[in-house]
Amino acid sequence: MFLRLVAALLFCGFASLANAQQAVGWKTGREAAAIERKVDALLGKMTLEEKVGQLHLSGRGEGFDIEQVRNGRMGAVMNFVVPAEIRQVQEAVRQTRLKIPLIIGLDAVHGFSTYFPLPLGQAASWNPQLIEQAAYWTGREASAAGVNWTFAPMVDMSRDPRWGRVLEGAGEDVHLASIVAAARTRGYQRGGVAASVKHFVGYGAGEAGRDYNSTWIPLSQLHDLHLPPFKAAFEAGAMTAMAAFNALNGMPATAHRGMLTDLLRGQWGFRGFVTSDFGSITELRLHGIAKDDAEAARKALLAGIDMDMMGDVFHKHLAGEVKAGRVPMKALDEAVRRVLRVKFHLGLFERPDVDVAAAPALMQTQEARDVARQIAREGVILLKNERETLPIASAVKSVAVIGAMAVPEDERVWTDPAGLGRRVVQPLPDALREQLPADVAVTYEPAFTKNCGTVFKDKDAALRAAAAADLVVAMLGEDCEFMGEGASRTDLGLPGVQQELLEALVATGKPVVLVLATGRPLVLSWADKHVAAIVQTFHGGTEGRAAIADVLAGKVNPSGRVPMSFPRSVGQIPVYYDQLPTGRPQKIRQRYESIYMDEANEALYPFGFGLSYSRFGYANPRVERERVALNAAAEIAVDVTNQGTRDGQEVVQLYVRQPVASRSRPLRQLKGFEKIFLKAGETRTVRFRLEGRALGVHDDAGRYQLDPGMVEVYLGGSSQAQANTRFELTKP
Ligand code: BGC
Repeated sequence: MFLRLVAALLFCGFASLANAQQAVGWKTGREAAAIERKVDALLGKMTLEEKVGQLHLSGRGEGFDIEQVRNGRMGAVMNFVVPAEIRQVQEAVRQTRLKIPLIIGLDAVHGFSTYFPLPLGQAASWNPQLIEQAAYWTGREASAAGVNWTFAPMVDMSRDPRWGRVLEGAGEDVHLASIVAAARTRGYQRGGVAASVKHFVGYGAGEAGRDYNSTWIPLSQLHDLHLPPFKAAFEAGAMTAMAAFNALNGMPATAHRGMLTDLLRGQWGFRGFVTSDFGSITELRLHGIAKDDAEAARKALLAGIDMDMMGDVFHKHLAGEVKAGRVPMKALDEAVRRVLRVKFHLGLFERPDVDVAAAPALMQTQEARDVARQIAREGVILLKNERETLPIASAVKSVAVIGAMAVPEDERVWTDPAGLGRRVVQPLPDALREQLPADVAVTYEPAFTKNCGTVFKDKDAALRAAAAADLVVAMLGEDCEFMGEGASRTDLGLPGVQQELLEALVATGKPVVLVLATGRPLVLSWADKHVAAIVQTFHGGTEGRAAIADVLAGKVNPSGRVPMSFPRSVGQIPVYYDQLPTGRPQKIRQRYESIYMDEANEALYPFGFGLSYSRFGYANPRVERERVALNAAAEIAVDVTNQGTRDGQEVVQLYVRQPVASRSRPLRQLKGFEKIFLKAGETRTVRFRLEGRALGVHDDAGRYQLDPGMVEVYLGGSSQAQANTRFELTKP
């Protein structure tokens, strides 16, 4: 028996190893040169149809034709998550003439089997190491199931919370977003899946926050705001990219040669392949730049799209376009070369088929769940905490948890690894019972029929439970169809009947803690005035509710910080911290200042903001040298003290402003941050190194421009940081 057990364990161990993929990424030097030779040799053997096949990406589900795989007419598949099914398509490849492995893609946006917080919630942790770990475990689990490519990270910059996809990004700031983009890229690829950084480019700037809408982005802003996170992801080794749906300055991104070829390949030297977005090639007809699919296919390929996701137009028309001489064979070869190159660099030709039996053991491992718990904790933002309502005081003997969202229904966004592994998602009432002393009664009333909060189930029962408790924890927010792709909103209040419930709960007179799980910053002006405490999360994933309980009970001191400003009203949008100055700044709020008659200018909760159960003080902001050459670096230091009685983490943020330069510079710009842990009473000196060459901006022609002059530096725990110092940036 014992021996059988040992044998079984060993078997498990070996089996796991077969699926535990190695890190993937670009090979260098001789290996890379050898790959180029292999690519050329393979290309030389391919028929026109086989070449086109490599550019055809088709997805699981209706219409999927495995014969196309068997005939060498398909280069990539998507949305396969069940290892046994992946195995089938891999086996179909063995029947092809050239046996070119498939690239197998999936939107593993915030997890595969273990769910981490939505990307915006990960960014709220301001902890790049943890963010990288979350992507790593996502990559590992996905690759253990046979996936080798993920459509992530999304690095689109957006200042418009009306857009439903802000949840996939890292918020409004380019510095934070670039760091997150690089961390996520590294993590995915270390975990064994190629990253596809998306959506190139400008998708987050859709006019009026409407999904898929056109964007108008001046070159200076394109280079200062929208492109840097892509650049950061490529520098971190991203092997593929996805083009965007939108038109950028009048040219659909899927046919934008200036971006896809001149900039990406020409200036940045990107060697991987670019896929279209879902059907975005055939949509070129609807954009009005192609009369039919053949022309759409031709325009996309010639602009620099290498792979057609779910559009079936490369598959149907490219061979004909080549034969008719409208697409040069050279252009087709170049696209195929890029796809094959990635496949070789990924090591797909040597990778064994997925080990179906081994996959489940690699899902939701304790290590992955530990990371999920930690990042979910660190992403919790305490927005308001009147009279220390939180952490829950020892005098509180009963807590009423209200809201269907407190008990998970479905934590998935896109991926569903069909029965793989456990899907442990602890309900909030259970998690609270675990964290609070045994004599605290925790009751639960869903109030709504579903998580979405659109229909009441039993409002009165919820109000009775609230009235009977010492403290009310209302978990509300956005779920179901209210967030994500195709979920633009013009009203950023709580969806459905949730506001009605919230007001009724407050009317009971009991202190209300509003716990939010949303996909975007909502307008919380009413809640800010009336509830005792507000805890913001962006759907924390598998460990999300446990992490909320950790914070409510005081086991964890909240350390999340706002990654995207919370507007006071929709009319303020776009509201973001790094605005340019105007000639009519707000001074005394009188007419002819740049203000609203009926609303403040400032965000309700600004970028970088977040409360803690401690207070952090900043002292002695200082620069090493008062004059710093443009090609040198400024050394900046500040002493940070935990002035509270609890240990905790602080996000020390550094902002700069150049008050006089050749172009207007933002009032503040984040240029550095560090998340530190301080014991109660402890002081630490935090040091930053600020490269002079990082302080430039792009001009109207997209040229980078550095200006000598005074640089003001602000240090603190939000974009309203007060401690300051300055230095003079000088010509080298
Ligand atoms: C989205 C992409 C996604 C793709 C595949 C599209 O609608 O825009 O981000 O990767 O679908 O699911």
